[in-house]
Amino acid sequence: MPAINVRPDIYWIGVNDRTTDLFEGMWPITKEGVSYNSYLLTDEKNVIIDLSKSLKSDDYFDQINQVTDIKKIDYVVLNHMEPDHTGVLHTLRRIAPGLTILASQKAVKMLEDYYQITENIRVVKDGEELKIGKKTLQFFQVPFVHWPETIVTYETSQKILFSCDAFGGYGAFRGSIFDDEYEDFSFYVDESLRYFVNIVSKFTRPVLNAIEKLKGIDIKIIAPSHGLVWRKNPQFIVDAYRKWAEYATSPAEAGITIVYGSMYGNTEEMMNAVAQGITGQGVPVRIFDAARTHSSYILPHLWTQQGVMVGAPTYETSLFPPVAEVLQMAALKRIRNKKAAMFGSYGWSKGALTEMKKIIEPLNWTMDMSYEFPGGLSREKLEKGKQFGADFARLIKNGR
Ligand code: FEO
Repeated sequence: MPAINVRPDIYWIGVNDRTTDLFEGMWPITKEGVSYNSYLLTDEKNVIIDLSKSLKSDDYFDQINQVTDIKKIDYVVLNHMEPDHTGVLHTLRRIAPGLTILASQKAVKMLEDYYQITENIRVVKDGEELKIGKKTLQFFQVPFVHWPETIVTYETSQKILFSCDAFGGYGAFRGSIFDDEYEDFSFYVDESLRYFVNIVSKFTRPVLNAIEKLKGIDIKIIAPSHGLVWRKNPQFIVDAYRKWAEYATSPAEAGITIVYGSMYGNTEEMMNAVAQGITGQGVPVRIFDAARTHSSYILPHLWTQQGVMVGAPTYETSLFPPVAEVLQMAALKRIRNKKAAMFGSYGWSKGALTEMKKIIEPLNWTMDMSYEFPGGLSREKLEKGKQFGADFARLIKNGR
């Protein structure tokens, strides 16, 4: 993509990535893609804020040259050291050896560890300002959004917050980088939620701290390093991130996520009966086959919905492994404070329920209901499953 003017002398120069299959080597983005947004500010000093993953580097450097001589870059602000924003750093320094890196104190060791860079680094302090001509940059520490070294950069004349991972999302651009050029930007909102839960949900307190810290700043545009540039309504994505972060400690929405797996169809058929019971109570339900759905897509629903209904057979005296893996990832991402229930078929031994309780024990999930049944199905068993689903739905609906 060519460089795109965001404001006078401020350009988007990122990479629109539609070829990476797995973000961070594990989260699927094959269908959705992702962007690595980088920004070029031209003034008495030329500044790049955040770089890109090492991908399509020729195109990336061409974008810079469209605007200014790449050799005349004075500063590179590294808000965050993760290689999706620093991957081209080595090459850029070879092309523009005079540039100075601006970063937090905590980034200094990371620069050496990742790139063996120890010189031409200027540490910026929390709240520090740097005049680059008509424009002034101000730096704010926002540790653990997403790593401990992370800062955000605010350009005071145009009131743009370059927020890096904060307020970002998956999703390659589908024609525009700006929120106001889409009739419907729900794709980006959905992908922002998936990104939030996959990447930063472990750090909800730092996210809320950052929002609190930045609330006194007049922000006209939020320019993150993934996803849409929010220039019509920057508050929209701030409010969304705040709401999602608050779900870590407050009740989520009154819906139920069914995560199930089935070896021979018995637990699956029971799942249909349970779902029928839930739907009959007017409670929204989403159903995920854990063996066929990457946890990346399941976690956002676990995060935003209050109820979790697990359907899993006992497998070798334990919880059916694909379902166990989803719950283990939920534990890693600190998806806490849910109401849960469990059902499933067993053959020669129970064990699934016990194993599930072990996994969710540190997560402060309440679990008072379970329905394990031997072998196959009968009309009576299915009717019991439907009632089981209805009972759980009432519990969610009534907030008990
Ligand atoms: Fe987009 Fe934490 O890097």
